[in-house]
Amino acid sequence: MASIRFDKIGKSYGDTEVIKNLDFTVNDGEFMVFVGPSGCGKSTVLRMIAGLETITSGELWIGDRVVNDVHPKDRDIAMVFQSYALYPHMNVFDNIAFGLKIRKLPNAEIQQRVKGVADMLGLDKFLDRKPKALSGGQRQRVALGRAIVRNPSVFLFDEPLSNLDAELRVQMRAEISNLQRRLNTTTVYVTHDQVEAMTMGQRIAVLRACDSASSLDTNLMQCGSPMDLYDRPDNVFVARFIGTPHMNILPARLSDDGTEVELLGGRMPVSAQFKEGALAMRGRDVILGIRPEHIGAAHEIDWAQTQTLQGQVEMVELLGHEAILHFKVGEHVLTGRLHSHGSLPAVGDTVSMQLKCDAIHLFDKVTELRLR
Ligand SMILES: Nc1ncnc2c1ncn2[C@@H]1O[C@H](COP(=O)(O)OP(=O)(O)OP(=O)(O)O)[C@@H](O)[C@H]1O
Ligand SMILES: [Mg+2]
Repeated sequence: MASIRFDKIGKSYGDTEVIKNLDFTVNDGEFMVFVGPSGCGKSTVLRMIAGLETITSGELWIGDRVVNDVHPKDRDIAMVFQSYALYPHMNVFDNIAFGLKIRKLPNAEIQQRVKGVADMLGLDKFLDRKPKALSGGQRQRVALGRAIVRNPSVFLFDEPLSNLDAELRVQMRAEISNLQRRLNTTTVYVTHDQVEAMTMGQRIAVLRACDSASSLDTNLMQCGSPMDLYDRPDNVFVARFIGTPHMNILPARLSDDGTEVELLGGRMPVSAQFKEGALAMRGRDVILGIRPEHIGAAHEIDWAQTQTLQGQVEMVELLGHEAILHFKVGEHVLTGRLHSHGSLPAVGDTVSMQLKCDAIHLFDKVTELRLR
């Protein structure tokens, strides 16, 4: 096992800087998820860890050595890709055994290790089959098996589930999480799916593209436990990215004494956690974030302090156990939550919704950073 430390890592292709100043550590035995929109550099970072991509600046540590110039095969890493990259002419056994054969392990040991992994992954009945005779989920398990059997110190996954249907994805998510917990191998898992990130990661690193036009000095927007990111997003980008439906993001203003927030024509007190930050920013424009589950109908909630929002219904999304209500207040469309078994409003109706005052998030309008 090993930790992975990024010490001010940068990566450019010619003049194009794609990774900037990446500076954090994946702990020994940790399951770390990299999540971010397409093109933000997730695969690039993973490929730098694997040694498939050169590092332009900074030092990459795996365990207690700098690996910038270490050959991929000497890094003791196994990688699983979105395309399973199985050998079509080999059966399951030979696909899993391939890496061990190249390393010239004794035959008996190969037999024993492949068998152990196949049992673990429920592939024992398929060892003689070629990949084309397997389902997508079974193929993905073979790709996993090929990684696990080598017993590496680091697993790297690059969107390994995106070719699978929704149900299988949920199942494989749980399998990979359980497997990682059992093996306790340091793991970096890349996805653009924030639900996958929330459900699998011990910690999540949220990345964003750093084009040279922007003022960002790093791709890393926040790194923390799933609930840290959900409850205390450091900035507007993370606030918007984590959580479905998305957090409502609205313009607001702090009162001149910094004790109240003005939102959509109403006023509410600043909650305790933002007291100091709001005082420092008093009288200024801010960005207010509120999650849809913190906007509800008066008869369905028992929140201590609420702010009434009146608007016109634009859309009602019925999800079965609840409904997501989209309603327009002034020029802003907000989303709130209703229990679907109550009587639901229709499009065009005027609704009165309650916002939970102590659940608001406040961000600096200019820097988009959380007030603190
Ligand atoms: N060889 C290259 N030359 C120039 N630019 C490149 C090269 N490879 C990748 N890039 C750029 O680097 C950026 C990061 O790419 P990367 O593949 O790491 O993104 P990603 O986050 O994995 O995206 P996706 O979610 O779509 O897989 C992209 O803007 C891409 O265009
Ligand atoms: Mg990618």
